Amino acid sequence: MKIECKNVWKYFGQTTALQDVSLGIADNEFITLVGASGCGKSTLLRTLAGLETHSKGDVLVEGKAITGPGQDRAMVFQHYSLYPWLRVSENIRFCRQLGAQTHNRSSADVEAASGRADALLRLMGLTASAQAYPNQLSGGMQQRVAIARALMGKPQILLMDEPFGALDAQTREVMHDLILHVHRLERTTIVFVTHDVEEAIYLGHRVVLMAPRPGRIDSIYDVPLPARREQDMKLAPEFLRLKRQLLDRIRETSGMKTDLDQLQRLTQVAEERNPV
Ligand SMILES: Nc1ncnc2c1ncn2[C@@H]1O[C@H](COP(=O)(O)OP(=O)(O)O)[C@@H](O)[C@H]1O
Ligand SMILES: [Mg+2]
Repeated sequence: MKIECKNVWKYFGQTTALQDVSLGIADNEFITLVGASGCGKSTLLRTLAGLETHSKGDVLVEGKAITGPGQDRAMVFQHYSLYPWLRVSENIRFCRQLGAQTHNRSSADVEAASGRADALLRLMGLTASAQAYPNQLSGGMQQRVAIARALMGKPQILLMDEPFGALDAQTREVMHDLILHVHRLERTTIVFVTHDVEEAIYLGHRVVLMAPRPGRIDSIYDVPLPARREQDMKLAPEFLRLKRQLLDRIRETSGMKTDLDQLQRLTQVAEERNPV
């Protein structure tokens, strides 16, 4: 197992953000966490990143307890965390350059980093925009820069928290195929958080469904699709079946079903009073 959570609990005061979460993630797996807001997705991801300390249980990466953030794990957020005053290529190199200075690395290391930066620019289709500033780019392009920067340190694990949540549907489709390509090429283990069921199925080998109050893992689903995904698969019966199953389960566990039932009763009453 690359990552292992064993009976992990997290409290924020009275709130139980994670209740007894146990999950093993294999090396090179692409796993998606899906669920209504407040079910602890971000908390679990931040715990894996070492940005949050859990209250109880074990969180292990390659058998070793996490003590904080590390070079082996990189994170991509929904909101671009780019430096607006740096060009695209400088944004991608920035962390690495900092590392080179602080650890007194040789110029050969810096050169190797430079080669990697160029390769990542190509991989993410950013070569033509290398000299641009972030605010000159579309949201999708900015997020490509953020991903390239996360990959710069050759992380073994990529942690992504609703990274495409702010993008339009068409840009998102392109980003989906791009991140699948990155996953194949870089052989990273990816943990990807989303509230979008279709995105969770299209990207994941397995989908972990979380439920709120208290935040917990409700169920885990194997995605019955070939490893190499294509957009057309979103129309396949097995895709649609899993989508329906996940949507139903999210409705049941999030309190949304009660809301919808109530709404239906209200409209029924209104229609009985004022027949059309
Ligand atoms: N820093 C924090 N302080 C207090 N409560 C928090 C904090 N972060 C998250 N929570 C609470 O923990 C629960 C899970 O939050 P979160 O992990 O952000 O859920 P999700 O990402 O699934 O929307 C929510 O009830 C949220 O209000
Ligand atoms: Mg969140």
